[in-house]
Amino acid sequence: MNHQKSKELYDRSCRVLAGGVSSEFRKFSYPHPLFYAAGKGAYITDVDGNEYLDFTLSQGPLILGHSHPEVLARVNEESSRGQLFAGQHLAELELAEKLQSLIPCAELMRFSLSGSESDHCALRLARAVTGRAKFVRFEGHYHGWFDNVAVGIGAPNLEDLGERENPNPVRWTQGLPPNIEDESIVLPWNDAELLRRIVEARHGEIAAIITEPVMCNSGCIPPRESFLETVRELCDRFGIVFILDEVITGFRLGMGGAQQFYDVTPDLAIFGKAMASGYPISILCGKEKFMRLVSSGEVIHAGTMNSGHPSIAAALATLEVLARDNVHEKLFRLGKQLMDGLRDVARETDQPLLVQGPGPMFHVGFTSQNEVCDFRETFGYDKKKYASFLGQMQDKGIRLIGRGLWYISAAHNEAEIDRAIQTARAVLAGMPR
Ligand SMILES: Cc1ncc(COP(=O)(O)O)c(C=O)c1O
Repeated sequence: MNHQKSKELYDRSCRVLAGGVSSEFRKFSYPHPLFYAAGKGAYITDVDGNEYLDFTLSQGPLILGHSHPEVLARVNEESSRGQLFAGQHLAELELAEKLQSLIPCAELMRFSLSGSESDHCALRLARAVTGRAKFVRFEGHYHGWFDNVAVGIGAPNLEDLGERENPNPVRWTQGLPPNIEDESIVLPWNDAELLRRIVEARHGEIAAIITEPVMCNSGCIPPRESFLETVRELCDRFGIVFILDEVITGFRLGMGGAQQFYDVTPDLAIFGKAMASGYPISILCGKEKFMRLVSSGEVIHAGTMNSGHPSIAAALATLEVLARDNVHEKLFRLGKQLMDGLRDVARETDQPLLVQGPGPMFHVGFTSQNEVCDFRETFGYDKKKYASFLGQMQDKGIRLIGRGLWYISAAHNEAEIDRAIQTARAVLAGMPR
């Protein structure tokens, strides 16, 4: 596959964009960051004319596929009346009402542009509500790139994480404030008993417990039975705010997010990504008794670009199509077809491939483990081997995310899923065991 034009543009980019990209995660692309020209349905085409069946879906947002015509039409229509009023507009109200009717915890909400902002506001609000400073977060979870949560995301080596019962709060980036580690208590995920012990001992310091409902940023790990219920119970018992970060699970596991799927209602939740087919929008939503501090302005939330017409219109259209076309049934069905197919071809080719997740998104990695339950166990994945698999899949026209997460969209069909499975078979057959 030829990437000549992409390479030239990328070299040019490096002279003007830091690292040649606009988000750190885009740097790690094969064979280098590519330039794309167009996306339609389940396909994306690069500037060299290579077409890829896309399981990246812009890291999750494109739940209806690229360039969905109804989304584009609604965006055009709404934007023709205005783009940003620095004031309220009807479509924004209608979207909020719709979201309130869909999401169990969403008694009140505020719109922002990115998941990172809404996560940031959730922690600020939790501190204000409780008068406590720290929050519990889990190893390997991602809650955006802001300072508060830039500790405990990951570590270069397993040893860096320290003892399981008392993990090191590993910094993710340089440039953080000196004592940022003191803000969070980092714990391994999916260990209800350890969580219970820590919270019982330290609840007086803890404003919030924040978690992804399915750990999608390191593997794709479902919560162990009753883990989320334990979080709920501990938060109720000790007056701690339960924050569920639904930036990936929201509108992917169903119209009411993971909180409906797992039947656990948090105090606050963050939605973004799949909500608006690639237009910038997120929400912080939650119970009135907490959100009232945002209503009163005692906790400040703001943003010049919030609830811009294109994003609101895209969200309205996306939610309409998701519900009307019963998209979630399709995402689970195709996800199962793909996961089962990948497991079958891995068995046939004798490759230690672990495929794990609910279906609308799932993780693929090389490991001899039968299951991966927390971040520490993800160190058992052979990441170099997956990088080689990804490169070969991409050379055969299948685009994947580097960390092994696969996303399904409503634009995929059975034949395309089958093509991905057959391509994986061919690649796996040629790889060392
Ligand atoms: C669970 C989770 N929370 C928050 C974020 C941050 O969202 P954004 O990239 O829109 O700032 C992400 C992004 O991948 C995420 O996966």
